[in-house]
Amino acid sequence: MSKKITKICCIGAGYVGGPTMAVIAQKCPDIKVTVVDINSRRIAAWNDEDVDKIPVYEPGLSEVVAEARGRNLFFSTEVDKAIDEAEMIFISVNTPTKTYGKGKGMAADLKYIELCARQIARVAKDDKIVVEKSTLPVRTAGALKSILQNTGNGVRFDILSNPEFLAEGTAVQDLLAPDRVLIGGDSEESIRALADVYANWVPEKNILTTNVWSSELSKLTANAFLAQRVSSINALSELCEKTGADVNEVARAIGTDSRIGPKFLKASVGFGGSCFQKDILNLVYIAKSYGLNEVADYWEQVVLMNDHQKHRFADNIITTLYNTVSGKKIAFLGWAFKKDTNDTRESAAIHVADYLLNEQAEIVVYDPKVTEEQIYADLDYLNTRDEKENRKLVTVVNDPYKAMKEAHAVAVLTEWDEFRAYDWQRVYDTMLKPSFVFDGRAVLDREQLTDMGFEVYTIGVGR
Ligand code: UDX
Ligand code: ADP
Repeated sequence: MSKKITKICCIGAGYVGGPTMAVIAQKCPDIKVTVVDINSRRIAAWNDEDVDKIPVYEPGLSEVVAEARGRNLFFSTEVDKAIDEAEMIFISVNTPTKTYGKGKGMAADLKYIELCARQIARVAKDDKIVVEKSTLPVRTAGALKSILQNTGNGVRFDILSNPEFLAEGTAVQDLLAPDRVLIGGDSEESIRALADVYANWVPEKNILTTNVWSSELSKLTANAFLAQRVSSINALSELCEKTGADVNEVARAIGTDSRIGPKFLKASVGFGGSCFQKDILNLVYIAKSYGLNEVADYWEQVVLMNDHQKHRFADNIITTLYNTVSGKKIAFLGWAFKKDTNDTRESAAIHVADYLLNEQAEIVVYDPKVTEEQIYADLDYLNTRDEKENRKLVTVVNDPYKAMKEAHAVAVLTEWDEFRAYDWQRVYDTMLKPSFVFDGRAVLDREQLTDMGFEVYTIGVGR
């Protein structure tokens, strides 16, 4: 018999915690789900009466929140109270790459996880199941266990690894119909308790159980494989451009081989997001720490290829615009790391912009979901130039036609669907001539634009 879960607490109300708990609450009306965060602005936004103002944009999410919020889904800043009440605690706090000290730029920074563990240990007065939901390096569960057992009030903690496989932009769909749910742990009873939560809507055959280390490593491996596919096709995109091939045709041709499959073969200006780069660097760091240098070098190349792709896209803009972009207006369509999300972490757009700003370009950004505040924060974070300079060189607008008016060039950085539907003749009429378009996502109709008079560069397409 497994323990019946009636109250869940989730620490961290971000891109993972928010959507995951909203779906659990929707599907398990008998479980009280409380999502807590130390960021009171974020919690206030999750509680906003207008569900369209919740802090994470995901198609379908506001409807799920509207259904469950106030019924059995709660957002709060009272962390201790929620920990105390719950039988099961999910940790969904952020684990960014370290920006200091040992493992700088490589290892995951576990300080937020450790703070959570210490807080749980201090507050818990009865047995708890603690679930790692954040992406973590292998063996973090061991560290969690050690902190919980040595600093707790003598209660029992079972630690489970339950990695998240949702992709942003399709999070709700991925949560409602996951390919698999993975649960790693050593207590059969606790694994069953968590499996029973998911079994409310996920078929049993899709719920896989493993030991805790396999589960942790599977998450890093899945992301490394996916990112590797993107870097592989991106590497070929450069060769296609030189040889006159079209990478999209190559992708279609190889994707029909059932052993390869069609997904994650879309050439782009480079992958972004909070996971791919971080998880690979983590894998590299772990491999190096065991002295596995060949393994480390092999995976690191996926990230190096991605950096190259972003740089060569920016470089091509400069070369094409007669070797100088100084004082030239370049319109950016898209800033998010992919469509249908307002998340910008590690977005290729940030690095392409930074590169062009170093060449004194003037950038005007339009993104349907990303705020001006976020765009400036992303650039300021790089610390390449001071905040004043960023605000002088970069303008953010909420009208795409305004962004492109009198621009020397348009650069497509995110694959938002609406970009295809613009009145491109109208854009052409208002741009400077020659009118250049650099399509970093291969989303625009190249032939149609060329016929209108645009000079079109499409990633991976040879001229
Ligand atoms: C990823 C994993 O897919 C998910 O399982 C994990 O839980 C978290 O990390 P996410 O980062 O949200 O999800 O998005 P994903 O769809 O994987 O895209 C990552 C990046 O790769 C994006 O910048 C996307 O534009 C890029 N990409 C993806 C390509 O450039 N080409 C492709 O064919 C696919
Ligand atoms: P992810 O994509 O992993 O969900 P986010 O950065 O979107 O990452 O969300 C993580 C959330 O965790 C943030 O809102 C942050 O304020 C919260 N957080 C970090 N540490 C703690 C903590 N000790 N207690 C509560 N919340 C925390």
